[in-house]
Amino acid sequence: MNLSKLHWGILSTGSIARRFAASLKKSSTGSLTAVASRTEEQAKDFAREFDATHAHGDYASLIANPEVEAVYIAPPHPMHKEWAIRCAEAGKNILCEKPAGMNQSELEEMLASAKANGVFFMEAFMYRCHPQTRLLRETLSRDDIGAIRMIHATFSYPAPTYNPEERRYARELGGGSILDVGCYGVSMSRLIAGEIIGKRFSDPIEVKGFARLEPREKTDLTAAALLRFDGDLIAMVQSGIALKGENLVRIEGEKGTITVGCPWAVRHGESFVQTTNHVTGETRIQQTTHPEEDLYAYEIDEVGRAVAAGEKESPEMCWDDSRGNAAALDAWLAEVGVTY
Ligand SMILES: NC(=O)c1ccc[n+]([C@@H]2O[C@H](COP(=O)([O-])OP(=O)(O)OC[C@H]3O[C@@H](n4cnc5c(N)ncnc54)[C@H](OP(=O)(O)O)[C@@H]3O)[C@@H](O)[C@H]2O)c1
Repeated sequence: MNLSKLHWGILSTGSIARRFAASLKKSSTGSLTAVASRTEEQAKDFAREFDATHAHGDYASLIANPEVEAVYIAPPHPMHKEWAIRCAEAGKNILCEKPAGMNQSELEEMLASAKANGVFFMEAFMYRCHPQTRLLRETLSRDDIGAIRMIHATFSYPAPTYNPEERRYARELGGGSILDVGCYGVSMSRLIAGEIIGKRFSDPIEVKGFARLEPREKTDLTAAALLRFDGDLIAMVQSGIALKGENLVRIEGEKGTITVGCPWAVRHGESFVQTTNHVTGETRIQQTTHPEEDLYAYEIDEVGRAVAAGEKESPEMCWDDSRGNAAALDAWLAEVGVTY
């Protein structure tokens, strides 16, 4: 057992759980102690592949494991609330996949439990912990492009094969693009709207939305939202799980534009922050990535840092930030008539 590192347990052996386990090896502060799956065989295979000390055939056993100090919650969204609360009650620190709850009301229950039990909690928006997002915040805090009027934030990808039983489509598993990837554009728009008034985030005062629904499950396949912030700053957010879209953030000011390429799954060679001043004609492209880096290791190390410092929330994605995001997603879903 490595005593200097935060001992992680992972709930589920799905695709992001695998990615997270690989990233743990590259983090400076974390080590993989345990994994849990609904089936013991899967847990054992996963533990063997990623060198976890313990493999649990059910989630409750991992939570009861005294060696586990922090839990990464990675089953589909509708299971997040129950397991976050059970982790909090067992005194485990929590990194919970996005969206943390199915709605703000669920999130409030999770946060209340984290607070009552004195544990760390963060919603896993990994891009928030990458240096590129820090660079964007710094760029926004300067007056490089004049008064900012419009934000475009898009995240849209073609999910492998259409399957109404799969978590991205099935209503019972929290399917739909708004909760799966729309949450990123909303969180980024709120970050930008906040940063330009000297805050970490700001919440929209109005949300309008549209969507194309899956015929059987009535979950959203593609969707768009318009968010209006104080000062009539407008954000246009696009999400899709059945459409290959251009994933970027564009911020339009009276004197110029900031474009963030590949803003979510930040990748070396694809991600950048470009600032163009239309008045001076000057363009600057900045890249913060390097070939050996690991996106999720930044997030893991932020949790490691915060837990070691005795903090219960991270400034990169604090509890009120998650609350504001959940409220905006609730409003968008209500606009398009998707209910769970
Ligand atoms: N931050 C990111 O970059 C990112 C990327 C992808 C997904 N996510 C989030 O992570 C969560 C999981 O997404 P994923 O893509 O990893 O999903 P996935 O590949 O479908 O894996 C989900 C896993 O959850 C477990 N599970 C528990 N109850 C289940 C149920 N009733 N039906 C299906 N699976 C169940 C299963 O693992 P066991 O059988 O081993 O228990 C399954 O393998 C979602 O909330 C998603 O929003 C985040």
